[in-house]
Amino acid sequence: MFNREKTELKRVPMMPVRDMVIFPQMMTPFIVGRESSVRALEDALAGEKKIFLATQHDASMDDPQPDQIYNVGTLANIVQSVKLADGNIKVLVEGVERAKVVQVSVEEGFFRATLRVVSSRAEPSPQLEQIVSRVTGLFEQYVKLSQNLNYDSMIAAVRADDPAKLSDSVASNLQIAVEEKQELLECFDPLERLTRVADILEGELEKLNVERNINTRVKRQMERAQKEYYLNEKLKAIHKELGRGEKNELEELKKKIDAAGMPKEANEKAQQELKRLELMPPMSAESTVSRNYLDWLLAMPWKKKSKEIRDIALAERILEEEHYGLEKVKERILEYLAVRQLVKNPRGSILCFVGPPGVGKTSLAMSIGRATGRKFVRVSLGGVRDEAEIRGHRRTYIGALPGQIVQMMKKAGTINPIFVLDEVDKMSTDFRGDPSAALMEVLDPELNHAFTDHYLDVEYDLSKVMFVCTANVLHTIPQPLQDRMEVLRLAGYTELEKLQIAKRFLVKKQLEQTGLTSANITFTDEGLQHIIRHYTHEAGVRTLEREIAAVCRKISRRVVKEGAGVSVEVTPANLGDFLGIIKFRELWAHKKSEIGLTTGLAWTEVGGQVLATEATLMVGKGRLTLTGKLGDVMQESAQAAMSYVRSRSALLGLPRDFYRHLDIHMHVPEGAIPKDGPSAGITIATSIVSALTRIPVRCDVAMTGEITLRGKVLPIGGVKEKLLAAHRVGIRTVIIPKDNEKDLADIPAEVRAGLTIIAVETMDEVLQAALERPIQPVAPGPVPEVAGEFGSEPETDQNLTN
Ligand SMILES: Nc1ncnc2c1ncn2[C@@H]1O[C@H](COP(=O)(O)OP(=O)(O)OP(=O)(O)O)[C@@H](O)[C@H]1O
Ligand SMILES: [Mg+2]
Repeated sequence: MFNREKTELKRVPMMPVRDMVIFPQMMTPFIVGRESSVRALEDALAGEKKIFLATQHDASMDDPQPDQIYNVGTLANIVQSVKLADGNIKVLVEGVERAKVVQVSVEEGFFRATLRVVSSRAEPSPQLEQIVSRVTGLFEQYVKLSQNLNYDSMIAAVRADDPAKLSDSVASNLQIAVEEKQELLECFDPLERLTRVADILEGELEKLNVERNINTRVKRQMERAQKEYYLNEKLKAIHKELGRGEKNELEELKKKIDAAGMPKEANEKAQQELKRLELMPPMSAESTVSRNYLDWLLAMPWKKKSKEIRDIALAERILEEEHYGLEKVKERILEYLAVRQLVKNPRGSILCFVGPPGVGKTSLAMSIGRATGRKFVRVSLGGVRDEAEIRGHRRTYIGALPGQIVQMMKKAGTINPIFVLDEVDKMSTDFRGDPSAALMEVLDPELNHAFTDHYLDVEYDLSKVMFVCTANVLHTIPQPLQDRMEVLRLAGYTELEKLQIAKRFLVKKQLEQTGLTSANITFTDEGLQHIIRHYTHEAGVRTLEREIAAVCRKISRRVVKEGAGVSVEVTPANLGDFLGIIKFRELWAHKKSEIGLTTGLAWTEVGGQVLATEATLMVGKGRLTLTGKLGDVMQESAQAAMSYVRSRSALLGLPRDFYRHLDIHMHVPEGAIPKDGPSAGITIATSIVSALTRIPVRCDVAMTGEITLRGKVLPIGGVKEKLLAAHRVGIRTVIIPKDNEKDLADIPAEVRAGLTIIAVETMDEVLQAALERPIQPVAPGPVPEVAGEFGSEPETDQNLTN
């Protein structure tokens, strides 16, 4: 492909060069310093000014031997040489032709090489043209991208007309390893050399492109960072100008942390967070989160304590002043306070007030707060299902906050407040975790010195807090929680007690709240009693208070309209003007005795309740249907009552298989109130017996008691609440289990005096007292009469089709 013209051999001085490869056509300046090189140079200058330049293998070698020098190099003309002040010589050489060493001889301190000059020319061909234009194109791009090359001179080099020269001038300008250059020098065929040069160029271009991309990206990022830096600095300057320097703020924070009196762990956490905050750009989302967290840590009370009042006499006076009645409960509270004074670290016993709404549970807790000089905080746990509401969310969540406990401690501002957990019985559990488990950690004296909130993330000491729980019922509170509580029951008030509470507290309070004086309005005792009887129906005094408030508001309006001279006396006669028509007119006792309708006494969330129990019979197949939102236990006790009645069929004058042809439907109205418990057993049995024997049940008798299959009556709970309820609605006779007689000691005298109480042991006694007539045992007869409309087949109108 190319012609290698055989040339004659030449003998010229040889100089090893390091770290570069001299190509033909190339002008190269370099410094000569080595003794041997100087000699070779001098020899050449004295002669034809030609010298052979070859690259040594290892650039670090000062005194290379012929076999440590590549044997292909370039024969060059020495264009210029200047002796420098330090004895070195600066030379400018121009490469002439490649040459290969045939033999080297050593002469007076330098090498002389016998060379064969390789001059080669490429034959023109389309392939050659193609590769020439490819190399030219690539090289132009290369020059553009590479910062180290001078554009003009390079382009001039590219214009060279000879492909062999082109390849050499391009090769000499490439920024590649010396070894690679040497390979190109040793490649004698111009076409092959050009191809290799093209490949190298392509590789280099790719590298340069990647580099350029990275560079622009880095540059862009740097620009953004610079911009941010600039803006931040400007912001700082503005802040400084406004007198609230960032630096100051952080210093301030540090001071606050040091002064907060945090325990070791919390302090370390705060310091650590502060360090993080210092490194964050101010105003960033991250720093807001961090700052919020620090604010929370700082806002918590760690050391601050209310000075506790330890004066039992004072506590007694405060309780007495603020609450009427409730003697037993007050006594228990005072005992509790006394024990807490005597024992240094009182264990266990968290007070828990259980009772219907409006009996003063929350307000008693507030009184305890006042009596002991503690701050008062309260959270309602009604409807809390999520553990996070108690314990908070981890800080990694957006908008995370601490839980209720920590929030309230912050609000209290002291480490020893009285903390009321209202409605602990209304908490529920679901997939978001069990809040009662978290609550246990709060209440357990073994654990609560190290309560952990997910947000706060450090242990917080709750052991100085006085916890008080309130609940309407006990049975929905998880047992482990109950075990940590000291339960105090508030059953509800009698009419007389309510009157006293209204006179002494509620009226006064409402006058204050509505801005009236006692000159504007007076409530007569009869007036208040009328409200209690006909506008309320409750165990506590919540509605009573509301109705009194409603009256006061009406008067306030008149005072505003007509002047401060308004003076009203509230009596039964004018109450209708303020409260509208009577809400509860009829007392229970005025109702009529009916078949299958029995008055039962129940104990529900709203206190004692009088509930009617209805039974009705239908032709059927022996099914027992129960409706009225009855719980499982109540359903079972209905089954038991039914079994009892079946076993007594003969005595009741019923055919043995009466139930096979009957369906019995039991219903307990007031469907909105969930009812449960075994205490309706005798009530249900009485209804069934009445329905079967068609003897009416006395409407002025109420009853409560559990029934066994053999007709025994077992004791039940909540006697006091139930008797209060019966008394409230005007019932005069109450049947209770014999074993509950002991509970009668608790009943207020006025209630006890107004009731005839029949204590029974068996169902027979119940029936005797409750049914209008005694049962007549008769011989087995037909199925008892039932309501006819259920018995007949529906008529079909066949005539119409013909
Ligand atoms: N014995 C009492 N003496 C004086 N005021 C009373 C008495 N009992 C209740 N009150 C008043 O009745 C109102 C309702 O009481 P409170 O809010 O404590 O009821 P509660 O038992 O906490 O009810 P709930 O279960 O609905 O939370 C309050 O204004 C309270 O002061
Ligand atoms: Mg309350």
